[in-house]
Order: sequence, then C-alpha cells, then structure tokens
Amino acid sequence: MPIESYPLDNFRRWFETFTSRFFGDDACVNAHLRLKQQHTQRTCAEILILAEHLALDERQRHVAEVVALFHDVGRFPQFAEYQTFNDARSVNHSLLGVEILRREGILSVLRREDRQWVETAIEHHGGKSLPAGLTGQALLFSKLIRDADKLDIYRTAVQLYRQYRADPAAEFWWKFELPDEPRVSAVVLETIMNGRLTEHGMMQTLNDMIACKLSWVYDMNFAISLARLRAQGSLEQLLAFLPATPEIERLGEKVLAYVDERAHQGIG
Ligand SMILES: [Fe+2]
Repeated sequence: MPIESYPLDNFRRWFETFTSRFFGDDACVNAHLRLKQQHTQRTCAEILILAEHLALDERQRHVAEVVALFHDVGRFPQFAEYQTFNDARSVNHSLLGVEILRREGILSVLRREDRQWVETAIEHHGGKSLPAGLTGQALLFSKLIRDADKLDIYRTAVQLYRQYRADPAAEFWWKFELPDEPRVSAVVLETIMNGRLTEHGMMQTLNDMIACKLSWVYDMNFAISLARLRAQGSLEQLLAFLPATPEIERLGEKVLAYVDERAHQGIG
C-alpha cells in the first residue's frame, strides 16, 4: 500500500463512531468515556512527538499513530459494562481491544505486517512489563505506546487528583476505588526506593496509587520520554499530593535523580 493511502482518516472516523456507541444516560459513565476519548487524542499527539525525535520513517509514524488511536478501544465496552478501568476486576482491556479490532475487521486494509505490529503493541500496552521475545518493529511500537500512554496518564492523573483534593466532599465522578488515608504503605516506598516497579496488589490507599505512578519511571523505554516527563512537571506535582515527610522527600529525590540521569543519556 502506498504510504499516501494509509487510511488514517477512516480509522479516526471509525474510532469516533465506535466509541460513541457506549455513551448513554449515565453522566458518570459518559464522563469516564469522554476522558478516554481525550486521552486517546493526546496519546496520538504524544506518540508522534516521540516518533519524530526517534527519526522514524513515514510508514513507522503511521503505524505508531494507529497503535495510539486504537490502544484503548477496549476501555469503552469495559467501562460501559463494569463501571471500572480496573482490569483485575473486569476484563483485560488490551486483549479486548485486539479482539474488537479483529471482529470489526478495521485493520484488514493494512499490510499483514503492519496489522501484526499494531495488534502486538496494543495487546501488550497495558501489561506490567513487555514479554521477553518481542523483537524488531513489534517491540519498537510496543515500547512507543507504553511511553506515550504513560506520559498522558501522568498528565491526566495530576488533573484528577487536583480536582479531587480541591474539594473531596464534592460529588466526584472519578472512581479511585481506594480509601483516602494519609499514609503511603511501607512496601510501596521500599519498592520504589529500590528502583523497582510496584505491583498493583501493593496499593492500599489513594496515596499508594499516587506513589505507584512514580515507579513507572523505571518502565519508560526512551530517553526522550523521560525528558518529556521531566519537562511536564508531573512528577513534582504528584509528589506534592503526598504527605510532606522525610521518606517522601527521599522518594522524590530518588525518582527525579533517576529520571534526570536517563533523560540525559540521550540514547533512544
Ligand atoms: Fe490502555
């Protein structure tokens, strides 16, 4: 397929039509779905910025954009049916996304390899880590979507926590699903201080959920992603939501030093 006929406009229209099916009478469901539509748009913009910095060619940039556009299609039926974005309590939204794309046949116009790269990247975008054995373009696009997705989730999370903290008593539509207690669990602090990703099961409080996002820095793939994250200021903003204790101060120093070091390596 010539690059100029890469059907991005059709894909964007399909995404609009598909996702709008899940809106209904429930304002809370609609607000969550709207947020995912906006997240998708911003993730598309983010992945293209990363692709540009990494000097990807035109075909690779198109594939990257399709991955970003479709990476969260599974979120829409997931939230409409279960009213949660928690995969453990509902369905694996990454696999559901691939299943939807296959069922709808939307990717069938692509070259087989392009379709496989898109499906593989979407399948693995939401897992804790990438499976060993991914190579070549499938690995590249999987790494790209994981970074672009996280960059926008950081931005969105800061906004949501800010709204919530400004007025916790207001009827808040976002489902955090964890008790808002002042502590950060010791296991969460220790894991991040040891330079490791936290596990979902470690989170006991809303503050743990905020702190766990800090551990994602260890899972970023490209120096440019870390540089963009640092420039966003989201890490400092997340840290400011946590209690001002000496442990949290050390945690902040550790995470920011790690990001600065990798962002300045300039590789990838
Ligand atoms: Fe996702």
